[in-house]
Formats: sequence, structure tokens, C-alpha cells
Amino acid sequence: MTQKEFIPKQESKKIKSGEVTWQSPSNIALVKYWGKKENQIPANPSISFTLDNCRSTTTLKFTEKETSDNTFEFDFFFEGQPKEDFKPKIQKFFQRIEEYCPYLKDYKFEIHSENSFPHSSGIASSASGMSAIAVCLMDLERQLFPEIEEEYFIQKSSFLARLGSGSASRSLEGGLVVWGEHENIEGSSDEYGVKFPYDVHEIFKTYKDTILLVDKGEKQVSSTVGHDLMHGHPFAENRFAQAHDNLDKLISVLKSGNTQDFIKIVESEALTLHAMMMSSLPYFILMKPNTLEIINKIWEYREKTEIPICFTLDAGANVHVLYPETHESKILEFINNELVVYCQNGHYICDQVGSGATKIDN
Ligand code: DP6
Repeated sequence: MTQKEFIPKQESKKIKSGEVTWQSPSNIALVKYWGKKENQIPANPSISFTLDNCRSTTTLKFTEKETSDNTFEFDFFFEGQPKEDFKPKIQKFFQRIEEYCPYLKDYKFEIHSENSFPHSSGIASSASGMSAIAVCLMDLERQLFPEIEEEYFIQKSSFLARLGSGSASRSLEGGLVVWGEHENIEGSSDEYGVKFPYDVHEIFKTYKDTILLVDKGEKQVSSTVGHDLMHGHPFAENRFAQAHDNLDKLISVLKSGNTQDFIKIVESEALTLHAMMMSSLPYFILMKPNTLEIINKIWEYREKTEIPICFTLDAGANVHVLYPETHESKILEFINNELVVYCQNGHYICDQVGSGATKIDN
């Protein structure tokens, strides 16, 4: 599907008002997206596990305007309260997607969103939040154009989500999702995420992700600024090539279930992401001392037990602990005995591979 195919061409039905609710999850990247071109085109392909418990629930209420004018009209509520500081983000999102959603200016919207995870957890809510808004808009679009097919629905939801936040494009479908063109992954696209199209070993279908909340504060450097610093970064080209290479290697690892090779790729990706931050100009560090304490403890534990536990990081200090379901009880014991001391107020979130965005009946 190309960009142009996402512009509706038919005559739309008339719908006065309504509301839809969707839940959409967060995701955790194994090969990281860090660096982008114009219009939210990623500098390299990435792949993530879709999560299950960390999600946003979003209701979109829409009422046709009496007279159509040239403005976007919307109110945004977060956990029941009007949230003015999120509105510029949505305004910008609407501007970016207007060409593909020409009906946006015909309606007045109310967007109500809430997260299943504490908002001060330092967990990026843009992936779940933006993908939830995108799929709600697509639900309205499907009411306006009932001939829309399922594949188009999901691809355009991901396409719109990407224009809101890059990683959000990987939250619509379950399991493993690839975003960004890769020569050995059929159907992969810079425009939207697609379900990883090859065989996946059973072990990776129920993988666990326990998120250790090291620092719940606001990040000092946003992802958007971080991506921007990849322009002119001395290691950028090598990094982008490495991501292609790592994704290539993951194809066979995901099939064979080789957790040793999985660990090497995933941990190297996490550390490289942070190495890019540390070698940007201006440089910055998002890890905290406790992030490093946890990483070292995980390495020690893996060495001692030979259990295939590993970590990854997103753009923050929190540590995602990844491991096969069969080792869950042992690893939770390890986390409770040795790692919770490094978590803010002892907090962590238990999550696992999930199944993507779902509609909630109003
Ligand atoms: C480190 O998707 O938050 O989590 O497109 O500017 O909204 P924008 O950035 P965002 O970047 C996330 C980067 C990452 C790695 C990843 O999820 O692949």
C-alpha cells in the first residue's frame, strides 16, 4: 500500500454523531528505531514485541459541525480531566493526517484517554496513546466508508499512528511487528507496521517483559529531540546499517528459538541506542546508576543459572527484563529478592507479549 492509497476517494456516508472506544497496547522494540527522516520516515527498520497489560483506552466522541469550517475542533481529557498541554500534540497530529482523513474538519471531537499503567511510571505512553487515537479515527472512517476492508483498516491505522509517533505504528497488531523497509522482510514498509511475516518459535509467542521502574520522572531529553540528534551524528550511517543487519539475524533466531543469539542482538541494540545518545552533540545520558546495577545483576544471574534472561531499554532509565514464560516463577523470585531495591518505591510492572488493539463495546 502506498501513501496515496490512504486518501479516501469514494463519497462518504453521512453520520451525525457517535462514539467509539479502543484499547491499544504499548510495545517494546528489540531492534530500535532511533533516527528519522521527513514525515516520520524511519532511518532504519525496527521490530518489537507488542505488549499486553500496558495499554491506553481511548474513547472518541464525534459530532458533526453545524457548518463546516477550516479548523480542527477537539477537546482532550486524560483520566477524566481536561489536559490542555496534550492538545498541541494532537493539533499537530491532525495537521499531519488531514490529507488522509479529509473528514476531520467536519466533526467536533472529544477524546478521552486513560492508561493502565501509572502515568508517572516513565513508560512512554505515546505508542499506546497515539495508536489508540489512530484506530478510533479509523473506526469513524469505516463508518463513513463501510466498504473498507480489514487489511486496509489495520494498515491505515498503523500509518496514521506512525504520523503521531513512530513507535505507535507497531502497536496495532499482536506478537512481533516490523516497521521500516527491510530487504529480507516481505511486505515491510516505512509507512506502516506489519506483522512479522515468518515462522516464530513457540518460545517467543509467550515471552515475558517485566518492566522495572527505575526512574518515574520526566525524561530530560524527549525522544523527538533524540531522533533529531541522529542528523549529522558521527556514527549514524553505521548504526542504521547495523539495525538492518541485526534485524536480518533476528529472522532466523526468531524461527529457531535460539535464546543465546536472541540475547546478544537484543542487549546490543539496547546499549547501542544509549551509546548513540551518549555520543550525540549535545550528548546526554538517560540511564541512571540503578539501571547499570540491574544490568550487572542480570548478567551475574544469567551466568550463574544459565536461564536465558536478558534486558532491553527504551529511551529512559527503566529496564525491561525479557525471558521465556517457563522461567517466570524463578525470575520473579530473583526480581523480588535482588532487583526491586533498585526500583523507585519498589515498583515494577509484569507484562508479556499481547495481541494488539481491540475494540471495546460502548
Ligand atoms: C527508543 O516513537 O517515541 O522507544 O516518532 O518522535 O514519537 P517519535 O518517537 P518515538 O521513539 C521511540 C524510540 C525508542 C525505540 C523504539 O521504540 O523503537
